[in-house]
Amino acid sequence: MIHPARSLDPELEPIESASRDEIAALQLSRLRWTLQHAYDNVAHYRARFDEKGVHPADLASLDDLAAFPFTVKDDLRRGYPFGMFAVPREQVIRVHASSGTTGIPTVVGYTRADLDTWADIMARCLRAAGARSGDIVHVAYGYGLFTGGLGFHGGAERLGCTVIPASGGYTDRQVRMIRDFQPHVIAVTPSYMLAIADEFERQGLDPRHCSLQIGMHGAEPWTEAMRDEIETRFGMMAVDLYGCSEAIGPGVSVECMETRDGPHIWEDHFYPEIVDPETGAVLPDGETGELVITSLTKEASPIIRYRTRDLTRLAPGTARSMRRMQRVKGRSDDMLIIRGVNLFPSQIEEILLEDERLSPHYYLEVRRPRRLDELTVVVEAKAGADAEETRVAAARDLAGHIKSRIGISSEVTVGEPGSVERSMGKARRIVDLRPAG
Ligand code: DLL
Repeated sequence: MIHPARSLDPELEPIESASRDEIAALQLSRLRWTLQHAYDNVAHYRARFDEKGVHPADLASLDDLAAFPFTVKDDLRRGYPFGMFAVPREQVIRVHASSGTTGIPTVVGYTRADLDTWADIMARCLRAAGARSGDIVHVAYGYGLFTGGLGFHGGAERLGCTVIPASGGYTDRQVRMIRDFQPHVIAVTPSYMLAIADEFERQGLDPRHCSLQIGMHGAEPWTEAMRDEIETRFGMMAVDLYGCSEAIGPGVSVECMETRDGPHIWEDHFYPEIVDPETGAVLPDGETGELVITSLTKEASPIIRYRTRDLTRLAPGTARSMRRMQRVKGRSDDMLIIRGVNLFPSQIEEILLEDERLSPHYYLEVRRPRRLDELTVVVEAKAGADAEETRVAAARDLAGHIKSRIGISSEVTVGEPGSVERSMGKARRIVDLRPAG
């Protein structure tokens, strides 16, 4: 669905429609610069390159990158807080950090030029999603160490929009701001977008009558079924936007409004590889594996072959000549293995959203009472479907569909509307109650 009030944008940056050869030539020169910059200025990269017997000068073609070492989250944690900076700390004018689920955060730094690059990239994302100069953009991603809020903020200002820095939380106030300020565009996690829809309805308002035309959603996995739900409830167009703080924050890739067929990776700033998660071997385009990102333009925190843990595959460009990635189904860390069957929360999401009686607010509980993992799906009924017998029937049906479609036996609990806690940012989809170790 392209919102009727949106026109296609004729004005692309030249690189957005450049030939593959032009893109590859730019990538090669930028990759050489990045490898040299990392080697010269970050002790960790120098040590790892030396250990592997590779040198930046060895890079004769893009494929040669495969000989260079991977970087994992723990490498970045070991450098905590500022050990991975490739410029003197005084030149770093902003830091962000990603908390992750365990332990020490990973810190990323930005020079003035980095913030400029990021704003350009995010402005490009907003434009690709259909935002235009003069639009009002409501940013409900968290502001702070998280990259979501300030990342969108910089891009929307760069594009010439009026930015509402709402940040996350205070859902009743979010609704108030949307009604009063009449934003055209909203940037928010898909799960929180639905919490905002619920709040509209709780206040007796129809979200379809609000001013929003475009939603830019990411920071967590979501499904096509979730997209339909958001688009139908708000009467707007919803696009997928991917990023991670290690690469820059939001803005690594975004869907274009005219095709909405998976996010285009901005390959002039990020060099993508897909690798086999077990062996690390580089896989050809089209095969599913783990996304590995090398930054091409970052000064303060260059990243070499960063293992995102996100599973996806690369596809040829459509609306832009740069390649697309398939919607991320989940992180390899979030994959559950229930009696030998691999499972991502998004697979359950797809099935439960087909049931008119169920709301999209859910989480999965995993226990190990004996030797085997057991799964409980906790979801809530929609308003109007909250009678005890309706909920029991919906639970039985969902368990049946999960069994027949995925092959997993599960317990399903359908609670009353509002019983599943809402997150203001990334939704927590897995509650792991298995004994440690
Ligand atoms: O979540 C950056 C971001 C902010 C992206 C706002 C999009 C919008 P981190 O906190 O470092 O950064 O988390 C990165 O979130 O490795 C994925 O697992 C997940 N993720 C991000 N975008 C998507 C998406 C931000 N569109 C981690 N689909 C990544 C699925 C996503 N997962």
